[in-house]
Amino acid sequence: MFRRDLLAKVSLLEQEEISYLKDRAEDGKDFCYIPVPEARFIVLWPKDADTMPQGELLEKIRVTASRILDKMRDEKIFKTTVVDHSWQSAEGVSAFMEGLYLGAYRFDTFKKEKKEKFSFNLESDTLDAKALGRIEDVCKEVNRSKYLIDLPFSALNAKQLGEWAEKDAEDLGIKVEVWPYAKIEKAGMGGLLGVNQGSVDKATFTEMRYKPAKAVNKKPIVLVGKGIVFDAGGMNIKTGSYMDDMKTDMAGAALAMGIIRAAARLRLPLYIVALLPATDNRLNGNALVCGDVITMYDGTTVEITNTDAEGRLLLADAVAYATAEYSPMLTVSMATLTGAASRALGSQGIAAMQQGADQYVDALLQSGERVHERLCFFPMWKEYDKELDSDVADIKNCGNGPAGMITAAKFVQYFAKETPFLHLDVAGVEFLHKKDAYRGPGATAFGIRMVLDFLQKLC
Ligand code: BES
Ligand code: ZN
Ligand code: ZN
Repeated sequence: MFRRDLLAKVSLLEQEEISYLKDRAEDGKDFCYIPVPEARFIVLWPKDADTMPQGELLEKIRVTASRILDKMRDEKIFKTTVVDHSWQSAEGVSAFMEGLYLGAYRFDTFKKEKKEKFSFNLESDTLDAKALGRIEDVCKEVNRSKYLIDLPFSALNAKQLGEWAEKDAEDLGIKVEVWPYAKIEKAGMGGLLGVNQGSVDKATFTEMRYKPAKAVNKKPIVLVGKGIVFDAGGMNIKTGSYMDDMKTDMAGAALAMGIIRAAARLRLPLYIVALLPATDNRLNGNALVCGDVITMYDGTTVEITNTDAEGRLLLADAVAYATAEYSPMLTVSMATLTGAASRALGSQGIAAMQQGADQYVDALLQSGERVHERLCFFPMWKEYDKELDSDVADIKNCGNGPAGMITAAKFVQYFAKETPFLHLDVAGVEFLHKKDAYRGPGATAFGIRMVLDFLQKLC
């Protein structure tokens, strides 16, 4: 990585390389690749780096790193040392390494031919080994969550999701309890149990707790992640190709797990809880049907008007449990919840909604820009409440159509009562059929780096 204005001072380059680079620098290209005297990739900082918004610059650097990775794949180079001569910012070098680590992920579990694993070294005066280790820690968790999202239902059912939560959690200082089914029944989590009625596997409810001695918050931040390991839609079965990618419907749970694990790796002084209600949404003779009325953890009755609006039912139970048990500083619900969110923003951003959490909005938006996992806030006006009015129960699980991401968020928020509540509908961003720079193909675990960046600000 070089700064254009300092190019001439870099003595380790061949004269030929310097003049080539200078030419290219005039073109305004972000990076160039020089095939002589041996495989080398030379990155130039963008010309307008100093005037560009920080988020945009950092993203350009990540994308550049992933393009170099593509070239390396083509040339079968799997080991590389990044030499930083930028004398620029630690953040810039971090972004470059992030682009490499994230772009290196490939899902090859079920392939005969395994992809080669990359390994990266960094020589830098701007970013020390400890700082690099932190980036590696975060990317490791992002890639682990991507892996869980990529796993098909045949390899990841509700029980297996709980087992992944338990794996080496103790070493990280996280306490995990996968509730026995009887405990879910006894607690009366009618939402989770209702969706689970249509399955041949038992639902699980996983509680992860990270409570460092020096935590700055007494009340925890509770992350609630939708753990639908497969969404067939239930009796309102998904038609056409709408079912194709529904192994990814546990992405919310994977995000929550990734965030709490990364926070623990970074030893953030924050008390964090992650709740992962999990089941598949299939159908059998016992599946929920429309018109059914279920009773939730907090006693609220819910009329089912669409069995494909299942995620909110599990989230609601977990949010109600969090509210009663922890009285959270902030509840964050994360879910691939609605097609409406995906239609509104495509794969470019998270549909966010909040109630009573206005004080965090600016910080969240800034974190989104910085790590390029952006959010867009939708309103939670009280007029939307009536969409959930039911003639037979306290509320119904589904609005009447428009503003689907908002009515879904309204439903979940109902169970948070007065607790500060943030809802991230990630339906559009968790899975890409086509690779986009360092994201995909496949799972993205979009949102982990944004929430972590935000959490770091609270410390
Ligand atoms: N898991 C889906 C939402 C989804 C759609 C996730 C596309 C990822 C990509 C959710 O359970 C669902 O089916 N939502 C319905 C709700 C509707 C019945 C009110 C939807 O959005 O169509
Ligand atoms: Zn559904
Ligand atoms: Zn779903």
